[in-house]
Amino acid sequence: MGQATIPSTEELAAAGLGMAVDGAVVRITIARPERRNAMTGRTWTTLARIGQSLSESVRVVVITGEGATFSSGIDLAMFEPGGVPGEESLFARAVSDPDDTAALDAGIAAYQDGYLWLRRPGIVSIAAVRGHAIGAGFQLALACDIRVLADDAQLCMKEPALGLVPDLTGTKPLVDLVGVNRAIELCLTARTVSAQEAHELRLAERVVPEPQLDAAVADLVEALLATPAEAAAATKALLLQARNNDLPTQARAERTAQIARLRALVAGA
Ligand code: CAA
Repeated sequence: MGQATIPSTEELAAAGLGMAVDGAVVRITIARPERRNAMTGRTWTTLARIGQSLSESVRVVVITGEGATFSSGIDLAMFEPGGVPGEESLFARAVSDPDDTAALDAGIAAYQDGYLWLRRPGIVSIAAVRGHAIGAGFQLALACDIRVLADDAQLCMKEPALGLVPDLTGTKPLVDLVGVNRAIELCLTARTVSAQEAHELRLAERVVPEPQLDAAVADLVEALLATPAEAAAATKALLLQARNNDLPTQARAERTAQIARLRALVAGA
């Protein structure tokens, strides 16, 4: 954290993003409403830079879309030979050197970095979703710790319908949340999930009437900030490893984390 410089307003705008820092809270807006907040490679590499540049004092990151849509996913021009102005098209890269696996792998990994930092223990990431969250947009919501959906939200993992796979870190949280069978059904039909069904499938922590979305997220942010930062980070770190640990390992991790907390509290008393 804090390694890179925060992208300038111009760099953010070129990436289709907006960003506002308010104390311990960072709000990131996907901001290309005329393209229904479609995202490009630059959007994801700039998201990665945001993650690398945040100061230690940031505790909550809220991601939302400008206007009535969260995100329509990848800018479909990325797949056209001409691509998006100023960016190499995925199609062109795959065509120009189909055997250069390392270059394609590194390119996708750089995009994934825009998503992976949202799971860091020191922050809580919230996706505030109204309208469509499609493909890369749905995966961005899945990369967040908490999803608050407006009742008009519609989620869709569109990639397989386009001949591709979801590759922006979405398959693991999807399977963790809904189970492998439901994940297969959702991805291989590429069907749209309503907000109500998303709540039933545990894809949403909360669903609220659309006009109340911002207030519901503000209440959540306030509640999160009321918990001491160090305890919050240590607890998130524990919870993140719980699924992959057996019970004795997790119990040991709890002891280790608690001893560190007790020592810190005693030292600060
Ligand atoms: N890329 C580029 N442009 C897009 C776009 C996208 N993903 N989504 C919408 N737009 C553009 C439309 O072309 C349209 O442009 P014009 O005004 O120039 O005609 C404008 O945004 C408004 O779009 P609509 O009129 O379609 O708006 P709508 O509100 O009726 O529908 C929508 C919104 C449901 C999001 C619909 O636009 C849509 O289905 N978009 C495509 C979604 C899609 O297939 N995304 C790719 C998913 S796969 C992925 O993200 C990951 C991957 O790696 C493959």
